[in-house]
Amino acid sequence: MGESRIQKHPILSIEKTIEPINFTFNGKKLTAKPGEMISSALFAHGIHIFGHHKKDNSPQGMFCANGQCSQCLVIANGIPVKSCITPVEESMEVRSLDGLPELLKDDKAVKTGGKTPIFNTQVLIIGGGPAGLSAAIELGNLDVKCIVCDDKQELGGKLSLQTHNFFGSIRDCYAGSRGMDIGNNLSSKLKDEKSVQYWINSPVVGVFSDKLVGIIKNGEYVLVKPKRILITTGAREKTLAFPGCDLPGIYGAGAFQTLVNRDLIKPTEKLFIVGGGNVGLIAAYHALQAGIDVLGIVEALPQVGGYKVHLDKIKRLGIPVFTSHTVLRAEGKKHLERVVIAEIDDKFKPIPGTEAVFKADTLLIAVGLTPVDELRKQAEQFGIKTYSAGDADIIAEASAAMISGRMSARKILQDMGFDVEIPPEWKEMLSILRSKPGPIKDFYKPPKDKEVYPVIRCAQEIPCNPCTEVCVLQSIKIKEPTIMGRPKFEGDCLGCARCVSICPGLAITLVDKRYDKTKQKARVVIPWEMPEGTIKIGQTVKTTGMEGELVGNGKVIAMKKSQWQNKRTLVSLEVPFKQADLVAGIQIKIPFTKKIPIKSKKNIDDDVIICRCERVTKKEIKDYIKKTGERDINAIKAALRVGMGPCGGKTCTELVMRIFRELGIDTKEITPPVERPFNQEVPLKSFLKEKKERK
Ligand code: FES
Repeated sequence: MGESRIQKHPILSIEKTIEPINFTFNGKKLTAKPGEMISSALFAHGIHIFGHHKKDNSPQGMFCANGQCSQCLVIANGIPVKSCITPVEESMEVRSLDGLPELLKDDKAVKTGGKTPIFNTQVLIIGGGPAGLSAAIELGNLDVKCIVCDDKQELGGKLSLQTHNFFGSIRDCYAGSRGMDIGNNLSSKLKDEKSVQYWINSPVVGVFSDKLVGIIKNGEYVLVKPKRILITTGAREKTLAFPGCDLPGIYGAGAFQTLVNRDLIKPTEKLFIVGGGNVGLIAAYHALQAGIDVLGIVEALPQVGGYKVHLDKIKRLGIPVFTSHTVLRAEGKKHLERVVIAEIDDKFKPIPGTEAVFKADTLLIAVGLTPVDELRKQAEQFGIKTYSAGDADIIAEASAAMISGRMSARKILQDMGFDVEIPPEWKEMLSILRSKPGPIKDFYKPPKDKEVYPVIRCAQEIPCNPCTEVCVLQSIKIKEPTIMGRPKFEGDCLGCARCVSICPGLAITLVDKRYDKTKQKARVVIPWEMPEGTIKIGQTVKTTGMEGELVGNGKVIAMKKSQWQNKRTLVSLEVPFKQADLVAGIQIKIPFTKKIPIKSKKNIDDDVIICRCERVTKKEIKDYIKKTGERDINAIKAALRVGMGPCGGKTCTELVMRIFRELGIDTKEITPPVERPFNQEVPLKSFLKEKKERK
């Protein structure tokens, strides 16, 4: 079924007995997993270029993997489709889309005449991710009639891509559990709610002035008349514009997680990442779990924005993180071949002579998220009672989205006249979960008078408490009034390593000094989530400290994987006695030592593609603004076609705003683009109706 499939994974199960289905790509016979998206099946066979653009013949591949951008168009059984949201069918004929698609020869009129069904509901929840599911369960508990719509094949939203343990509070938002397990748990709870219908494969495409909402329900256009709408549409990834940014092989971290964690595809051998927030840091970790080499991460700020524990765990494994650096350009003929980075000064300008090149074939853009809020704006404009929760409201961790979903549901219930309250502790927890990580302090040092104890390398205030909850002797405590505080070990330790097993940041090790009576050696238990075979019992490994600094050598003496450890392995290392408190991890990658300098080359910034759909360059937009003094994005769209392509300006609008800023124009002067339904392409066949009874 293709050579680029993940064969072993420490967390995800690999189904080896799947009966493949057959399809062809440009006449070549290929196989796919049943239900798999065309783009993933092509990636599994190492095909990353899906077609060529009509304007300049530039190669086109995958970008968002989420149905948002249209860069992945192919012709499937004669019809142009987005390959990332179209499943392969048995004997499907898939072709590259080179240029414009042609009309089908058979284009005779089709009989129509049926009416569009209209469904009434008390609450329409748009988005079946953590916020939407949590809200629907809350509403379902009181038998409120709801419809939850989601454009994907499964409920759970981004939770289904999250293979790592979540931070937060165990009691309030399942902290310590893996995101995908939380998603499954919420989905099955929702399915038990009798008053809640869930529509998967059902993108919402517009809200109209007659207070109806258009939805493509499993390919058929239907309308919903809700009394209230809850927007839980999540967020979309921001992007960056730099020379070469439109090459196939450059895509969002979310797209990468979809390929790797949902579809078990190994899309690359050598990866580079831009963006040191939690998304970029986690993507690096997920890549290593899939057996992909991560060449480095660049972050423009002097410090990464993600949690220190995420940063530390990837540095311990040997991934270099370049702060105060940027991607200067991406190079390659038809696909990404090299990434050039450079150091930047305090004004974010590249410093000449600091360039370095990395031979990566894939570059992930992880530079932040922006709320998906166009449906909210439409609904509010037309006077529908509208609420929002999760990332569609405020970008934060999924744990915050779950609580905000429940709170929005309670608000809806109150507005409907139910006698319910929004507990003050929910409000408090939401504000904690939404807070930025605090300053980096020192972590509480391990005790000197104990033989066995945990070393908790939690040096930054982040909302997290699983270690305090699992300690059987309750010897780990947060002294501060909230779960933002740093946990401290005080008291006795049984040596059970439950804290090592549950810590979402993999920041706890267990030191056992009883191991060697002569006090020459000690045993250190570390958490391990890398693929089987990365290390073996008996092997001597290089041990690293908290931030990836080399400590010395250790011998792997045991690897324990029990069910209660939830797929995390506890590795026992024999280390020199004096190093026991220092050892925090194992290096699996030779650390990067020196940048490979390259000859500086002028960046041709003006050729950067801003509008991917219509291939409009930065220079065209800049020149037009300078020449005409235009401040209305709608007028620029009409003149240059920027934002007029199938994605509807979802990627480029933000970049156009940035060009205004670069030109020194106050963004208050700018007229934003008008949001009109439909928010995404709707196949004409969705509107064809046979005669049916109106519901
Ligand atoms: S990659 Fe398929 S729509 Fe963006």
